[in-house]
Amino acid sequence: MDLKDQINLENIPRHVAIIMDGNGRWARQRGKDRNFGHEHGVEAVRETVKAAADLGVEYLTFFAFSTENWERPKVEVDSLMELLVRAIRNETPELNENGVRLQAIGDLEALPKKCRQELKEAMAMTAHNSKLTVMVALSYSSRWEILEATKKIAGKISSGELKPEEIDSLVLENHMETAGIPDPDLLIRTSGELRISNFLLWQIAYAELYFPKVLWPDFRKKHFYEAIIEFQKRERRFGRIPQPQF
Ligand code: FPP
Repeated sequence: MDLKDQINLENIPRHVAIIMDGNGRWARQRGKDRNFGHEHGVEAVRETVKAAADLGVEYLTFFAFSTENWERPKVEVDSLMELLVRAIRNETPELNENGVRLQAIGDLEALPKKCRQELKEAMAMTAHNSKLTVMVALSYSSRWEILEATKKIAGKISSGELKPEEIDSLVLENHMETAGIPDPDLLIRTSGELRISNFLLWQIAYAELYFPKVLWPDFRKKHFYEAIIEFQKRERRFGRIPQPQF
């Protein structure tokens, strides 16, 4: 039986978040520099978007560049930024044809102007689409996001717009980059590393975690289907006890 036929279309995660890891190792295995791995990672992104749209996933978030990634050698950072600009430019028409809305989270002000501009145009061009929302996390880290939200809330308290006792989970969530977006149901990190690396720490409180060994540039539809099949085997309890079986 085809892998895809093993998927229960009634139990598709609404939001899948992905830490694309292993580009550097993939390139090293081929005697190439790290950017070669990043370039091949774009094909994996394309395949994943198609597979997710096809299954009816509503939100797909990619961790493309972390706050910490600015510490990488300048040549790698510059190439990654150029790759992003190129990927956004090349992929937007197809995203649009397939009803995909592009959004970005993170400290976008820290990005080079060209990258910011390209993103802004692509987001405006796809804003009316509603089949799947693809969110790219750029210059993002979860601690940065929580700190920023805290500062915004503190500002509203000092101006009298908000009272301390009014702060609850929803207030905090509404000040995060992901305001209005449902929490991820499934988080995938490729390459076999068992870490979250400062990604959506608040939002993944109840997400199922999946760590396939495949390196990101090799990730294909098949791997996405395997992740969904694994997700469907898990019993999600959200801190409650198992449902009685009758
Ligand atoms: C992690 O691998 C990967 C990245 C830091 C960059 C991922 C970015 C892309 C694939 C560009 C395209 C993205 C979009 C959304 C258009 P690593 O370099 O940490 O690999 P390693 O752990 O093997 O060294």
